[in-house]
Amino acid sequence: MAIGNHIPTLTAEEAAELIPHGAMVGVSGFTPAGAPKAVPRALAKRARALHAAGNPFQVRVLSGASTGVACDDELGLAEAISWRAPYMTSGPLRKLANTGRLDFVDMHLSHVSQMIMEGFLGRMDFAVIEATDITADGRVYLTTGIGNSPTFLLKAEKVIIELNAYHLPRIRELADIIVLPPPPNRHPIQIRDPLDRIGRRYAEVDPARVVGVVHTNEPDGGRVFSAPDKVSRRIAGHVSQFLLDEMAAGRIPAQFLPLQSGVGSVCNAVLGDLAANEDFPQFKVYTEVLQDSALELIAAGYVTAASTCSLTLSNEKLKFLYDYFDEFEDRIVLRPQEISNNPGIARRLGVIATNTAIEVDIYGHANSTHFYGTQLMNGLGGSGDFERNAYLSILMCPSTAKGGRISTVVPMCSHVDHTEHTVQAIATEHGVADLRGLSPISRARRIIDQCAHPAYRDYLHHYLESSPMGHIRHDLRRCFELYHNFFEHGAMLPDLDRSQFELLEAATT
Ligand code: COA
Repeated sequence: MAIGNHIPTLTAEEAAELIPHGAMVGVSGFTPAGAPKAVPRALAKRARALHAAGNPFQVRVLSGASTGVACDDELGLAEAISWRAPYMTSGPLRKLANTGRLDFVDMHLSHVSQMIMEGFLGRMDFAVIEATDITADGRVYLTTGIGNSPTFLLKAEKVIIELNAYHLPRIRELADIIVLPPPPNRHPIQIRDPLDRIGRRYAEVDPARVVGVVHTNEPDGGRVFSAPDKVSRRIAGHVSQFLLDEMAAGRIPAQFLPLQSGVGSVCNAVLGDLAANEDFPQFKVYTEVLQDSALELIAAGYVTAASTCSLTLSNEKLKFLYDYFDEFEDRIVLRPQEISNNPGIARRLGVIATNTAIEVDIYGHANSTHFYGTQLMNGLGGSGDFERNAYLSILMCPSTAKGGRISTVVPMCSHVDHTEHTVQAIATEHGVADLRGLSPISRARRIIDQCAHPAYRDYLHHYLESSPMGHIRHDLRRCFELYHNFFEHGAMLPDLDRSQFELLEAATT
């Protein structure tokens, strides 16, 4: 470490004291990967003490995506956040947002950097950035998640660096960092392959703005995923077969196209299924989050190259990466989210996007974020960046939730994140509906027949065929009837008894 003498070393508590009530704070990382740990924890503690003494204390928090338990959960439990963007997965924050106690702004992740640079989100007072090193001339070497840190470092009035000794200093060898200049001064982004490099291994900061360095030694604490369940494996099997058929038809080239894989167990199951399928070639990924399963596939040689914004690994897999770093250094590139999720690059590379939805409707609109149209789950994340701009956009979900009492295929989505114009294929455990080239009513018939649970197909067909004629058939008096049923009777189709549901399922899966 070659940090200038004028930058003081602080305890986390001293650093937290510097951040005033009402400040806009940018935090590093993307998912728990690279998120600050000690300072947010100390900030939450400070907020609790101030609240107990009857004083207000809340900050506005801008991140790359979700953060770690030490950041979002701690600050949420302390009710120390008044405003949050652009994505989160925290239970405490979800509760605050769904009870009107947190202003949460759900954004496309690729948009955030430009919005900060252009001042759309207001002044950035503080940045709290995890790094492995900072030099006297202001080079900041980031850790496992790049997120928006390069932009935060440029725009924040004051910067606190958490120097985390847990991370291997060589992690910088994966980084490829660039901040795009504002329009109209942008040049084409020269990425033609997931491994192309266009930037530097470090982010930059004006050393005069760095108000302190806090030393930590802590892994990211990424979540360990359980093995995919039966339904996820079935969805994955259908998606793999669909992609193989596309290759056989010549619509996907024999060397395959870069895959983007979203978060969650279904997406992990798809990755696993592709790798296990002998008919599949080796492939590359262009994505925002690399989880344990993807690292295993790189180690096993199934995935030959990965561009990502973060290494969202369990502690065990992070240690594995560091122990065998030579095996990975030339196969992984870590980018800021403006580049990892860039619409132009996704379109140029011909990314195949696979993400999970909460529900879809019979016309192909998808809801990724809000249960019953009102209750926030996590947010949109990068799903829109990729789905909207992919070569092939696939949305996946189990056909039912809550033990079959909810159909995830509904007449009209209660909230829409991805429209019928974006979604090209939908997959459930019953099959894949390829929607390309189909008019709305043909789409509806295909989605019901291929994707809806058999127990709900008659209802959905009847809804479609009995609704007033139009280019799109809808009956606005009945389009939300399934939700009304669920709220009033605890099931979308209350007359469907459990044994009937199980029989239908056994007969069709
Ligand atoms: N109505 C009500 N509840 C529903 C539901 C529906 N239509 N669909 C699912 N649920 C419930 C499940 O029952 C489960 O509840 P439980 O935990 O009480 O059992 C919960 O939602 C989570 O379901 P699960 O299938 O385990 O979710 P997941 O971990 O696969 O995540 C998303 C699914 C959609 C929430 C998640 O992928 C997400 O946040 N996506 C948006 C962001 C994104 O796509 N990011 C990737 C970009 S690269």
